Amino acid sequence: MQKKIKKVIIPAAGWGTRFLPLTKVVHKELIPVLNKPIIHFLVEEAVASGIEEIILVISPRKLEILKYFNVNSELEHQLKKSGKIEFLHKVKETNSLAKISIAIQNEQLGLGHAIFSAADLIDNEPFGVILGDDLIKSKVPALKQLMEVYYRTGNSVLGVQSIPKKDISKYGVMNPKNQLDALKNEFAIKGAVEKPKPEEAPSDKAILGRYIFTPELMPLLRTLKPGVGNEINVVDAFEPLMKMGQEIIAFTFKGTRYDLGSMEGFVKANIDYALEDELINETILNHIKTKY
Ligand code: G1P
Repeated sequence: MQKKIKKVIIPAAGWGTRFLPLTKVVHKELIPVLNKPIIHFLVEEAVASGIEEIILVISPRKLEILKYFNVNSELEHQLKKSGKIEFLHKVKETNSLAKISIAIQNEQLGLGHAIFSAADLIDNEPFGVILGDDLIKSKVPALKQLMEVYYRTGNSVLGVQSIPKKDISKYGVMNPKNQLDALKNEFAIKGAVEKPKPEEAPSDKAILGRYIFTPELMPLLRTLKPGVGNEINVVDAFEPLMKMGQEIIAFTFKGTRYDLGSMEGFVKANIDYALEDELINETILNHIKTKY
């Protein structure tokens, strides 16, 4: 019987440079898909997966993200007074989504460093990681799909999908134990390469922002030296983890993944969510059909 996964770490300390100039004043995680900021979707996914506590890793300059999850009494009072009950519920929902904790990352030294910044809030327990650049729309929440693999196998699990060769250099890429395994939707890896050149990528399966780690990962992160991009990369902990006798499983989750690290991904997400929103879908579809 595996230990229960109760906590998820969401790194949210970066500068959001790809969205400048907007991110000069709006934190990347607060940019919306329709009327909800990215961070809301990520927390919802964690909660729908059965997670009890969300640890946001933020920099001291991003404390405002917390405001989104805190009570705004003045706004609630106004909405109540003017009888806007539907909006009041929407606002209240954001205060009660989950238990939110924060960990401060003073310097942005890479994903491995961001995860390690939450070490004090993780006991000797398995935990999940959700990255804000990857929004995943699926029937079963993506994190939950990974958690099921963990509960069945007891191994660390990486959420992967196939990525076209031209884009592979943006990601951590799986090296399957056996090349044929890369055709399966679940396989053990012998390693992973961070942001390889297309011709050097060991497969087309890239990690897309969802991870489950066994408790042994945290102490290993402390020992890592900067690697690719001069960053402390979490993939560099995989080899030492496997040397300890652990398997790492790459699992192809089901769902549509939007790359919210890119403008195209953001626009696609907004279009798809709009076309599924019963209040606005007809108007948007008509607009697209008549204009293009
Ligand atoms: C990070 C990870 C990379 C992973 C990617 C998923 O890269 O280092 O292994 O594939 O997220 O979005 P970043 O996008 O932070 O450069």
